[in-house]
Amino acid sequence: MSPHYSVPDRVSAGSSNICPTMADYHRVHAESMAHPDAFWLGITKELVEWETPPTIGLEGGYAGIADEQFTWYEDGRLNATISCLDRHLATRADKTAILWEGDEPGDVRRISYSQLHADVCRFSNALENLGVGSGDRVIIYMGMVPEAAIAMLACARIGAIHSVVFGGFSADSLANRVLDSGSRCIITMDEGLRAGKAIPLKATTDEAVAMVEDELAGQSGAGVETVVVLKRTGGQIDWVEGRDIWWSDACEGQLDSHQAHIVSAEHPLFILYTSGSTGTPKGQVHSHGGYITYTAFTHRTVFDLREDDVFACVADVGWITGHSYIVYGPLANGATTFMFESTPLYPDAGRYWDMVERHKFTIFYTAPTAIRALAAQGDEFVAKYDRSSLRVLGTVGEPINPEAWEWYWHTVGEGRCTIVDTWWQTETGGICISPIAPATPVVGGSATLPLPGIQPRLFSAEGEMLEGEAEGLLCIEHPWPGQTRTIWDDHPRYVETYFSTIDGYYFTGDGCRRDENGYYWITGRVDDVINVSGHRMGTAEFEAVLVEHEAIAEAGVVGFPHDIKGQGVHAFLILAAPSKTGTAGDEDGQGDGTSGYSDELGQALNQLCRRRIGAHARIDRFCVIPGLPKTRSGKVMRRILRKVAEGDPGNLGDISTLAEPAVVEAIVNAEVHG
Ligand code: WT7
Repeated sequence: MSPHYSVPDRVSAGSSNICPTMADYHRVHAESMAHPDAFWLGITKELVEWETPPTIGLEGGYAGIADEQFTWYEDGRLNATISCLDRHLATRADKTAILWEGDEPGDVRRISYSQLHADVCRFSNALENLGVGSGDRVIIYMGMVPEAAIAMLACARIGAIHSVVFGGFSADSLANRVLDSGSRCIITMDEGLRAGKAIPLKATTDEAVAMVEDELAGQSGAGVETVVVLKRTGGQIDWVEGRDIWWSDACEGQLDSHQAHIVSAEHPLFILYTSGSTGTPKGQVHSHGGYITYTAFTHRTVFDLREDDVFACVADVGWITGHSYIVYGPLANGATTFMFESTPLYPDAGRYWDMVERHKFTIFYTAPTAIRALAAQGDEFVAKYDRSSLRVLGTVGEPINPEAWEWYWHTVGEGRCTIVDTWWQTETGGICISPIAPATPVVGGSATLPLPGIQPRLFSAEGEMLEGEAEGLLCIEHPWPGQTRTIWDDHPRYVETYFSTIDGYYFTGDGCRRDENGYYWITGRVDDVINVSGHRMGTAEFEAVLVEHEAIAEAGVVGFPHDIKGQGVHAFLILAAPSKTGTAGDEDGQGDGTSGYSDELGQALNQLCRRRIGAHARIDRFCVIPGLPKTRSGKVMRRILRKVAEGDPGNLGDISTLAEPAVVEAIVNAEVHG
């Protein structure tokens, strides 16, 4: 299998410091699959600092074991932060570890490895002094400031399990995560700052803690005991004596040295909640040994990392991309990693490229949605800045369309840079399918080939493995160290979600095509997960919120193609009978059940989504329909809703199993609002 795309005008397939040639890649990949234990033991000994190096690779697996439990490096002992901090002190003490730019252009902080080590140690001591210990869960609800990374690393250092909640999530979502994880400590800040706007993180935390208290009322010894507050804006906040403590006060008098708490390889490093097909987010659990090995390995391999690189991943630490490629991967590799507090459009669409010029980024990693949004603003915002420092450009989060890829390639990269389209998931811990810069010949829209250690397999809907050129369900054959081990407090759901679709394989939830060269092309989710601007959301989460409103009897939510956001959100509403709402559903008197929508209703529903889920959960389009398309057994045929939302109602497929085929016509003809 040797892929050859003849695109010399756009792609210089060159030599990488890890895979000098594609022949090396194919050899290493084959070895990694033939001897996975030897491969991953070798990688971890090379890249990770162990207190007790492991002698065992994988134990258990997907198949043959009833409860789908597996471990990596079971007999090894370490603490992931030693790899990220302590071991760099000898050789990189003065090297910038975190380069931060705040909301206002030019507001810059540079934190060296020795300073970062000291800051993390001080905060580790502070947390221990507050009674946080190994195995305790800690919620981090902050904006993009260096202290967010310091908080993550300090938790990890004492063996506590952090769970970062993206700052856009609402009090409801935050409360759910506090409850699910059983966290007693929250680390937050007075206010976040984004595009000149203050985000009331402490106020939202207060609201969430009140909800947690209501929920746990009467249960002794439970609930949030400590809220650590970093001062960012100095804005007005409420204060609960005995519970709240300023970050600076917590650190007062604490030593800037701390001996990392050594844990077993499988000790949980963090929980990160992600959306799935049901209404409740899943707490994905990553482990110290496997995760740090996999992020270090993929970060240096995919991006062709060099010692003097300035690595800029402009994601948020609230998502897995921020965990793996702002914090853990780059720091494990001793790289200079960039943290960005603001947005790509503030103060204008030139912000990223202005920062490329000023900070001389060599590697720049973003999402297709940002690329599309910036391309729509015109080339002049890019052209006026010097981008000659750039060597590798990356994308992640959703399929990239050819137009956006071309723009990234020509306009941003001046045809000089490799583009790595990296496919992975919260569950995979790190990049799984991606070019290896600059060795892998790339073609716009394809994530190309699996990394060493990863064996993708495609299956038909009937569960048959597909060979060669094919399109089907994307599964991965053999465990790798970066995978999540369980869903927090719900192992059966982990088994059900990932291992029950295809026996003996990890099921990703994505569809995928393999071309004649063996290249992989991700076609998008095949489950009820939608991807809006790289934010993963469950349609069931929206539906659960919508039916809370008294005017809504039932709702069906699907994604539709959106020029900038990748996918938009389309809600089909069935209004409650007038007796429930007190207002008539069918004001036009036609009795077809497709009117009764008002802009006020749409706004109220979006406010509800914002309150229950977060600021990023916004419905773009509504239509009122008389009933959902259900089979006689009561299952919603979402395919029909999807086709209508996609504007392709001529091609609905077989609808003969519907209980009421007549609703289809009403759905197709329903007026779309918004
Ligand atoms: C889903 C995972 C991985 C960090 C950000 C998202 C989609 C991710 C690509 C890509 C096409 C992609 C998939 C995947 N996705 N990368 N390069 N090409 N699709 O993490 O929130 O866990 O979402 O994002 O659908 O399943 P996540």
